[in-house]
Amino acid sequence: MMRHFGLELRLLGPDDASKLATLEAKVFADAWDAGHFAGLLGQDRFLAVGTFDGQDLLAYLTAFSLDGELEIVNVAVDSPFRGRGIGKELMLYFLQEGCRRGAVRAVLEVRSGNAAALGLYASCGFTQAGLRKGYYADSGEDALILEWLLCPVS
Ligand SMILES: CC(C)(COP(=O)(O)OP(=O)(O)OC[C@H]1O[C@@H](n2cnc3c(N)ncnc32)[C@H](O)[C@@H]1OP(=O)(O)O)[C@@H](O)C(=O)NCCC(=O)NCCS
Repeated sequence: MMRHFGLELRLLGPDDASKLATLEAKVFADAWDAGHFAGLLGQDRFLAVGTFDGQDLLAYLTAFSLDGELEIVNVAVDSPFRGRGIGKELMLYFLQEGCRRGAVRAVLEVRSGNAAALGLYASCGFTQAGLRKGYYADSGEDALILEWLLCPVS
């Protein structure tokens, strides 16, 4: 796996809640707050990973982990650091960590117009498993359901 010089990939714990909430609020309108994250981080069913430059959180991925399935909630890279492979490196680290915990499938929902996210997921081996027409009320966009299988069935 490609490594970014000087950046650290690691699991997030309760102490990271405020940094995680700050970055999420920069990227998403419906962000969770630090208190909510503090309650989830540290629970076995919640898996969160981040990319750090020293103390600075540059990227994160949050997911629920249940019965061998990872349900990805959000993934984001702080805007100045996008397009450098950081998102892909973090996703591959997350999938590796999920597999280590026994996951065989990862699933997520993405807006059909989110080209950067679709590029990231395709380059990490996700494929389309479903479509929800007009799912997003604000834009009328479709939701694509994408999945990643540890042992794809051909
Ligand atoms: C989606 C996001 C996490 C991607 O992170 P990133 O670090 O910029 O992505 P990377 O540089 O690792 O690129 C990964 C792949 O996606 C592709 N990609 C990245 N940005 C792209 C864009 N704007 N258009 C098309 N493809 C793109 C890259 O070419 C790369 O593919 P490759 O490995 O085949 O070359 C980032 O754009 C982001 O934070 N977006 C806002 C939040 C968001 O929409 N999250 C997803 C929905 S929950």
